[in-house]
Amino acid sequence: MKALILAGGFGTRLRPISCSRPKTLFPIVNKPLLEGIFERLSENNIMEAIMAVNSLTEFYIRKQKIRKHGLKVRYSIDPPKTPLGTAGPIKNAEKLIGKTDSFLVLNGDIFADIKYKEIIKTHKEKKALATIALHEVKDPSRYGCVEITEDKRIKKFIEKPKKGSAPTNLINAGIYVLDPKVLQYIEKSKSVSMEREIFPKLVEEKKMFGHCMQGLWIDIGKPTEYLEANKILLKAHYNNKKYDNKNLKIKNYVAIDTGVKIGEKTVIGPYAVIGKQVAIGKNVQIIESVILSDAEIQDGSKINGSIIGEGVFIGKNVKIGNGCIIGDCAKIRDNVSLPEGAAVCPGKEISENILKSNIVC
Ligand code: GDD
Ligand code: MG
Repeated sequence: MKALILAGGFGTRLRPISCSRPKTLFPIVNKPLLEGIFERLSENNIMEAIMAVNSLTEFYIRKQKIRKHGLKVRYSIDPPKTPLGTAGPIKNAEKLIGKTDSFLVLNGDIFADIKYKEIIKTHKEKKALATIALHEVKDPSRYGCVEITEDKRIKKFIEKPKKGSAPTNLINAGIYVLDPKVLQYIEKSKSVSMEREIFPKLVEEKKMFGHCMQGLWIDIGKPTEYLEANKILLKAHYNNKKYDNKNLKIKNYVAIDTGVKIGEKTVIGPYAVIGKQVAIGKNVQIIESVILSDAEIQDGSKINGSIIGEGVFIGKNVKIGNGCIIGDCAKIRDNVSLPEGAAVCPGKEISENILKSNIVC
């Protein structure tokens, strides 16, 4: 079976970190999300992936040289200046998909602990045209909401229902098995939405089924969700790791990648992820934050609940409050305080306090 990975969206809700990398390359506990997807596919014996992307995303993925875990990876590129939505890229990859076998489609911004075999089994049993993985959430309003019959047939699919109006808490987990016949439902060379245009037709024709999945599932589309995904994974896998340094205070759970330097009396954690080659000074505090590789954080600075991009420089005694996002290679000079929710664009230099939580470009 082949897997098609949709990864050509613009990640607008994760700006400014997504200005310089696609969502699917965001590191989750120091491993690019896409690498985790490849790993899971390989564990499930799915050894061929088609990346449905735009040319910029292709460039970033190739440049990062992530581990492919034995997968054969091919690219299907959206036409320039015409994003194809969530169904158009599947049609665009028709030749690579082939006409005979069912195939898997994965949203490239989902972290999920799922056994593909189970959803494939439901798909075969039901002789479905489409079978989608379903997950239960508290607030379905930012997802595709689903109503299902006892025999797993989907009787309603509503994309992003208004708050409070969703008929159930079951949502489209962004993981599907499709029969190649579905390609006939999608118009060529156009932006088409799987969720708003194709799924409702398949529901009407009673050819769409759902498979409820248990276990870890998270869409990293928003900064809070991205931090939460890191937190959940830290909790699950990093509880007993010991870091040998008596001058350093580690509060579980933390992950520290290779080549990291940390000064005396610095406190890391709880829930901190530190990327490769990050240099951290003395008396620094890093709480509930993700620091991407090659950042430098000088003495006395405090970072809480924030995402710090690759190669960012943070001077002495800087305060970075909750929900801040600092784009790659930005510089925050000594003694600056950033308010909650501030966002700094890549490469921008900040040398005075910011009072409002705007995006600074
Ligand atoms: N190639 C390509 N071209 N990929 C795209 C395009 C495009 O024009 N637009 C979006 N994608 C990719 C995104 O990169 C992402 O991996 C996937 O398609 C879904 O798009 P999102 O923009 O992340 O959608 P969403 O999160 O609002 O909603 C979708 O996912 C939810 C689960 O997280 C829907 O499928 C919902 O129904 C679902 O519940
Ligand atoms: Mg998404």
